[in-house]
Amino acid sequence: MSGLFVTFEGIDGCGKTTQIEMLSSDLKSEGIPFVLIREPGGTQIGEKIRTILLDKANSGMHARTELLLYEAARAQIVEEKIKPELEEGKVVICDRFFDSTVAYQGIARGLGLEAVDYLNRWSTAGLAPDITFLLDLDEETAYRRRHGRSDEEDRLEAEGLAFMKKVREGYLLTSTEQSRIRVIPATDTPDVIYQKIRKAVWEVLGK
Ligand SMILES: Nc1ncnc2c1ncn2[C@@H]1O[C@H](COP(=O)(O)OP(=O)(O)O)[C@@H](O)[C@H]1O
Ligand SMILES: [Mg+2]
Repeated sequence: MSGLFVTFEGIDGCGKTTQIEMLSSDLKSEGIPFVLIREPGGTQIGEKIRTILLDKANSGMHARTELLLYEAARAQIVEEKIKPELEEGKVVICDRFFDSTVAYQGIARGLGLEAVDYLNRWSTAGLAPDITFLLDLDEETAYRRRHGRSDEEDRLEAEGLAFMKKVREGYLLTSTEQSRIRVIPATDTPDVIYQKIRKAVWEVLGK
């Protein structure tokens, strides 16, 4: 595959959307073809699965059910969108991908890394990001950043800071085992963070 697969990870409020917007406008102004993808949505089937996952009425959902729903959406988006776009040579930018499943389901929810790693490889048929930016932020700062947000709190966000702390630790743990993951301190200003991202992306693009 000739494109470039870039993913953004980190707890809610760490700045993923902000950085993805900055990268997108840069790629656009330089005429580099790219596509934005949001997990677990991004396909018609995936958007339906996303609605199930975020629905507060589904508070009885078992953690294994949740894991399998994420993996189901992932299998679909890999085949329907990510692989074809990469084959066309595009930069594919994904707002969360399987490292989220490692941190949230594998570690924070305690389902274990063995099952999650296996399912991640299975649902993607072995496809992995070329480069992953982990925007690392403490859960209190992330919470304060989110506070101004107008979105109604969703089921995952309602679970509080203790859970987010575990997720953050899970991300940091997996980052030590994967050289594709670049840990970026997310306490800096958006511009400072973005310069690091731009440098890394342009390096792998060979520009
Ligand atoms: N580096 C930063 N410093 C301070 N505030 C930020 C920074 N990056 C993003 N924000 C603000 O924090 C909030 C959450 O950012 P967002 O990009 O939506 O995070 P995410 O997509 O990871 O949930 C937004 O209001 C955004 O403007
Ligand atoms: Mg976001």
